[in-house]
Amino acid sequence: MLPDTRVYYALKSNSHPTVATTLVREGLGLDVSSGLELESALNWGSRDIVFSGPGKRLDELKLAVDNADYVTVLIDSFSELTKLERIAGQTGVSVRAGVRLATDESGLWRKFGIPLASLSDFFEAASRCKHVDLCGLQFHISWNLKPESQVIFIARLGVELRQLEKKYRRSIRFIDVGGGFWPEQGEWLQKAATPQGIVQAALDEVEHEAFKHYKWSACSIAHFADHISGALSRQLPEDVKCTICLEPGRWLCNDAMHLLLTVNDVKSSDLIITDGGTNAVGWERFETDYFPVINLTRPDLREHECLVAGSLCTPHDIWGYSYFGQSIKEGDILLVPNQGAYTYSLRQEFIKPLPKCVELPTSIGPSNSTNLVENHGIKGQATNH
Ligand SMILES: Cc1ncc(COP(=O)(O)O)c(C=O)c1O
Repeated sequence: MLPDTRVYYALKSNSHPTVATTLVREGLGLDVSSGLELESALNWGSRDIVFSGPGKRLDELKLAVDNADYVTVLIDSFSELTKLERIAGQTGVSVRAGVRLATDESGLWRKFGIPLASLSDFFEAASRCKHVDLCGLQFHISWNLKPESQVIFIARLGVELRQLEKKYRRSIRFIDVGGGFWPEQGEWLQKAATPQGIVQAALDEVEHEAFKHYKWSACSIAHFADHISGALSRQLPEDVKCTICLEPGRWLCNDAMHLLLTVNDVKSSDLIITDGGTNAVGWERFETDYFPVINLTRPDLREHECLVAGSLCTPHDIWGYSYFGQSIKEGDILLVPNQGAYTYSLRQEFIKPLPKCVELPTSIGPSNSTNLVENHGIKGQATNH
């Protein structure tokens, strides 16, 4: 158990105003990664915001400084520290700040934060900045089905903190452990995304398996909580007594949105075209991820092989290779459930317009939550797969 925690919803995972404002009303802070997101967060009445992300522009830092009462800047580099000090100095305010720590010093993730080994130098540099109140640390590791990577980094952080000068260690008022908690339903994949499928594709030996889906299990949020809080209690030095912040994204919004599609063309019993395209989610998600396609018009627990494609002029515009239902006919309404995370914020006007978004009253949706539907025609409600 951690004595003092604070949760910041990662707005990038679903920036729909209703999702964000619902969570703000429930008492969560917001984690933003751009001036645009920061502006939205302020307009939606959030008064506790962390602003993270690499390469913040001067105007973005200025917006943070102008709202210093509400915003904690999670500084990404030494040069960003200098810029923040200059801007805060010009305005004459003190800005609450943390520093992001790189969790992997090689590969693509090195673009985030400073190396752990530079932490002492960073505190030293910040101590010369009269307008930056450096009082926290942040790290974020993505895509975790279980808490091992976070636990391993917390152990590395503990070692580094023990070597840090006592005055700096004692100035730490928060440690933000980021997000990256996978929803408990796990990750369901098409073969193409499995190691075996990738090797077969490289060898040009792809065999199509409409009904075979691959599940990577995820542990419960309680398991994440147990292991991460246990690691923090064990690894942090005694004199680091601070608030633990979290930045969950997908765990909160995954089930908040579902897609509804209308069958526009039945080309054969195993090939249909829907009205909407995957521009509704902004990426070719369903080539790699499996979600059931459920025919709400003719429901049935049987799954049939069928290429369910969208109507964009690209072969990558697919929803899946099968559907649940008795059969499939023109005009049928199909549901692709649980499309709340990294879809709405990534949607794009590509060939087709953005889909309509319809809000279901909370009395129809799951208890205490607003349920949103990306809609191509009717209102509906999803079930979990
Ligand atoms: C800094 C930061 N915090 C939190 C999150 C949320 O991650 P997740 O949706 O996996 O919980 C992200 C996502 O990219 C992020 O970049």
